[in-house]
Amino acid sequence: MRLENETRDKLIEMAKYVRQWAYAPYSKYPVGAAVLMASGKMYDGVNIENAAYPDGICAERTAIFKAISEGERELLAVAVVTENGGSPCGSCRQVLSEFGLGADVYICNTQGEIVMETTVSGLLPGAFTPQHLPGLH
Ligand code: THU
Repeated sequence: MRLENETRDKLIEMAKYVRQWAYAPYSKYPVGAAVLMASGKMYDGVNIENAAYPDGICAERTAIFKAISEGERELLAVAVVTENGGSPCGSCRQVLSEFGLGADVYICNTQGEIVMETTVSGLLPGAFTPQHLPGLH
């Protein structure tokens, strides 16, 4: 689905704004993310690191988990903002795919430039989906 430019820009702006709240004292690589859900609501998230390094979480997963825990289920779009337009990690791709394989993805830098525009399925071709689980459908 293609978003209105205004909606897309608002999502990117949200991801850019919240990046200041990232907790990234170890990597010093703050990330901001924002998701647009089918209700029309947007949820933001940042990466949250931990002294026990593997226990940190990425910005994209913080944002989608916030949305899901508020009762949302369908992802329409996601924006990610980093200093250099870094790409979502494999774990985030898999988590996002559960809620919207066709969702638009805007990968941006802090200048607000869209470095890459794609979809969740574009980021994760051949995703493992709920349909692969026998007996559930
Ligand atoms: N990180 C994200 O939050 N999202 C991404 O798309 C890639 C990586 C975080 C994880 C860690 O806190 C820091 O960036 C460096 O890997």
